[in-house]
Amino acid sequence: MAVGIFDSGLGGLTVLEAVTKRLPDLPVVYFGDNAHTPYGVRDADDIYELTTAGVQCLFDQGCDLVILACNTASAAALRRMQEGWVPHDKRVLGVFVPLIEALTERKWGDNSPPREVAVKHVALFATPTTVSSRAFQRELAFRAIGVDVEAQPCAGVVDAIEMGDMILADALVRSHVESLQRRMPRPEAAILGCTHYPLVEEVFRDALGPDVAVYSQPNLVAESLADYLERRPEMVGPGAETRFLTTGDPKRVSSKATQFLRRQIDFTAADL
Ligand code: DGL
Repeated sequence: MAVGIFDSGLGGLTVLEAVTKRLPDLPVVYFGDNAHTPYGVRDADDIYELTTAGVQCLFDQGCDLVILACNTASAAALRRMQEGWVPHDKRVLGVFVPLIEALTERKWGDNSPPREVAVKHVALFATPTTVSSRAFQRELAFRAIGVDVEAQPCAGVVDAIEMGDMILADALVRSHVESLQRRMPRPEAAILGCTHYPLVEEVFRDALGPDVAVYSQPNLVAESLADYLERRPEMVGPGAETRFLTTGDPKRVSSKATQFLRRQIDFTAADL
């Protein structure tokens, strides 16, 4: 029994950690495409090829359900994958849905017309590819009206985190927040639309100030997965072991992951 979690690198570990806390008995196979990170500056075809290769590897590890814990892959490749690539007995789910559910206070299956929601001014922080896809705004528009979304492409933040340069990541986050505030001085809510950003969530919170509600994905995704598995328990695949796979250098990636999660994490090379 295992569920797969995919990311372009280390960011999905923030989702894995929340899933492990919420569902401690669930074996999880993690796939980090560290050799090709960051995805946030790649084009959609490139992201599609890389994401399908990684997800196939997770299917081969006995995962029938894979969470794309990568907003960039969710924005650039998920719809195409679901429409023509995912086998009928497998599922691939993205990470926008739980965020939008939380923001609009309605359930995904709720197909009533879009309606006004409490939050009117939303700041979206994400990778350049996620921002230019406008996938978040598109999904939001199905459910809510009258929400003004100002998006900030946060160039460089994922690279800095992958390199382990948290001083640079801190400085970049502050400058991206400032740049967004020039266009939207008083957002009521901020969406951290990249799974790497929870690793610098405190910096976002500090730069945004106490009046901004920050929506971060890990706990929302973990809760949504728990709910999904309760309804579809058969989607826990046949894999029985928690494993960490990477396309990068396993030693280097293990050391960074251990540092971020503050517990020993051992990656092995992905067999693609
Ligand atoms: N964690 C990925 C996301 O959520 C980062 C993408 C990248 O590699 O740039 O978008």
